[in-house]
Amino acid sequence: AAQQSFAIASIPGDGIGGEVIDAGLQVLDAVAELSGGALEFRVTEFPWSSAYYREHGRYIPEGGLEELRRHDAIYFGAVGSPEVPDHVSLWGLRLAITQPFDQWANIRPVTFLPGVTSPLRKADDVELDWIVVRENSEGEYAGLGGRNLSGRGPGEEVAVQTSLHTEKGCERIIRFAFDLARTRQVAKVSSVTKSNAQQHGMVLWDEVFARVKEDYPDVETERVLVDAMSAKFVLHPEQLSVVVASNLHADILSDLGSALAGSLGIAASANLNPERRFPSMFEPVHGSAPDITGRGIANPIGAIASAALMLDHLGLPAEADAVRAAIEATTASGILPLDLGGQADTRQLTQAIVEALRNSW
Ligand code: NAI
Ligand code: MG
Repeated sequence: AAQQSFAIASIPGDGIGGEVIDAGLQVLDAVAELSGGALEFRVTEFPWSSAYYREHGRYIPEGGLEELRRHDAIYFGAVGSPEVPDHVSLWGLRLAITQPFDQWANIRPVTFLPGVTSPLRKADDVELDWIVVRENSEGEYAGLGGRNLSGRGPGEEVAVQTSLHTEKGCERIIRFAFDLARTRQVAKVSSVTKSNAQQHGMVLWDEVFARVKEDYPDVETERVLVDAMSAKFVLHPEQLSVVVASNLHADILSDLGSALAGSLGIAASANLNPERRFPSMFEPVHGSAPDITGRGIANPIGAIASAALMLDHLGLPAEADAVRAAIEATTASGILPLDLGGQADTRQLTQAIVEALRNSW
């Protein structure tokens, strides 16, 4: 019998979600097999997608969240379809999980892989890697506001979209960033806001940051406005280690980071409920990519690296490192997907990564 067994809920979702989750599950299968029976991943697939929504009128059926909750982790592909407005699909499936499961910390490492040409010339001579820590429960994505507020109809519409920042919400994500910084080679936290222009919520964030940093005298800090930080990602990325920001700011910055590292297709992400009262969710940063769906060419690295973050969370850091090393060995050997200028399709790249995992185990 297996010594450690984990229940994983997989939600491939839409578009290339299924293609890349399938790749990640192949890697998890290899990890289980190579463990010689010490590890078992029991994967249950949930068919919740935009097609499911069009048939049933909802993304998650009644009782679905309770069922999800019984799992140790959730492995998520992407949601988004040309047939459903994006705000309906995002709120219907992805945010319908992250919000009730209080996955308030979204971790997005920016990893520069060997053999991948970055548009950033600096990446050739400086070692670069940093982590974006995104507040994942409130801020600009709190869903507060409304439309038709003028009551005057088309042409005169007024819409309000309000950001919500709570002292507790700011404090827990900022503390999380400091704790994470302590585990890294460079113990530094960069706090991102736009508090010069947004004088209520973001000034609260700044004040909480100033208070929390007193508890971490060993961690270097800086405060950078979001526009300046976007320039810093390009001009001085070597000065970054942990970057903590609000929901919207960190969403944008992490896409910029992964583009600098070569492609959105390699970016991984974890939606964590750090208290572990609910399962956490692991997903590539990219979306459903309808422009390349069904062609078998999606880059699976973001999904596989997200599976590595899931292994970390399940208490298997050695296995997680082995998966990351297999990804690096593969790109270093010149086996690259189309979006990184190579020739390998999803299947070939996944096979190469599984092979590298076997060779190094
Ligand atoms: P996207 O990430 O799906 O695609 C952006 C571009 O990057 C496309 O040209 C696509 O082909 C390419 N790309 C993305 N992932 C790739 C991969 N693994 N390999 C190779 N190329 C890749 O973002 P887009 O086009 O803005 O959104 C498409 C749909 O996805 C929309 O419905 C959107 O709402 C949804 N979406 C869902 C997310 C989620 O589920 N977490 C996140 C972002 C977007
Ligand atoms: Mg995004």
